[in-house]
Amino acid sequence: MLKVTKAVFPVAGLGTRFLPATKASPKEMLPIVDKPLIQYAVEEAIAAGITEMIFVTGRSKRAIEDHFDKSYEIEAELEARGKQKLLELVRSIKPSHVDCFYVRQAEALGLGHAVLCAEKLVGDDPFAVILADDLLYSKTPVMKQLVDTFNHYHSSVIGVEQIPPSETKSYGIVDGKEWEKDIVKLSGIVEKPAPDVAPSNLGVVGRYVLMPTIFDHIRALKPGAGGELQLTDALQSLLTEQQVLAYRYHGTRFDCGSKLGYLKATVEFALRHPEVRADFEAYLQDYLAASQTMPKAA
Ligand code: G1P
Repeated sequence: MLKVTKAVFPVAGLGTRFLPATKASPKEMLPIVDKPLIQYAVEEAIAAGITEMIFVTGRSKRAIEDHFDKSYEIEAELEARGKQKLLELVRSIKPSHVDCFYVRQAEALGLGHAVLCAEKLVGDDPFAVILADDLLYSKTPVMKQLVDTFNHYHSSVIGVEQIPPSETKSYGIVDGKEWEKDIVKLSGIVEKPAPDVAPSNLGVVGRYVLMPTIFDHIRALKPGAGGELQLTDALQSLLTEQQVLAYRYHGTRFDCGSKLGYLKATVEFALRHPEVRADFEAYLQDYLAASQTMPKAA
């Protein structure tokens, strides 16, 4: 059986929405409480049985490579100080059964182009794509839900969720019929349509399991929305020759590509974090109680 063992992480984007924080360091390294976004994404892949992580990087993304590399200095220091727990924590970032690969996307030509940059590393296997900006929280990690769906139907699967109709311009939007519970058989997909022409309000989130034939369709692309080579357009082309499914995942999404989504993720993950949750919850309650009686900040 075809097994999904590889995940592609397009991480070459500039992160302009988080400037100046992202001027010299990657947006994927922004922390939610104490872990960078990219580590949440990699952990989600590992939980889905994926063992080969392929990062499509760009200039000033060195910190991502360093993060998943061994840090002799930190490990030696923690060992010398007998900080065993922290040592284990640092070592667990990249478990020994996981391999990381890096390829450069020299020009920001779009998500489709980023995925195409990974072609040689992916080869002829089905593979996952994870956009670390979309932080997903769920009891069963969302990529595992997608891989299970892929294993069942043996066709490409795209993670989707119901979005407010006014926001179609921010997403790939799928068209199709509900086939089974939470599964839509795609008849079309369009990148960032205006609300009046959007085929539905099921928006694509940054999780895909794709058949390797997608590469042929990306290679044949012409620039689409925003003048970029869009993965969405390659999927539209793919579904004319093979089945593509949309899967309505179970979980909560935080759009960490936006400041508000990032702040919401920070609050909710802090409220679940064993080390800080009690104190943070008490602080929030005090803060909210005090703010009832305080004049609003200017
Ligand atoms: C990308 C995809 C889009 C998808 C979105 C999910 O857009 O092109 O289809 O809905 O990710 O986050 P971006 O947000 O990178 O513009």
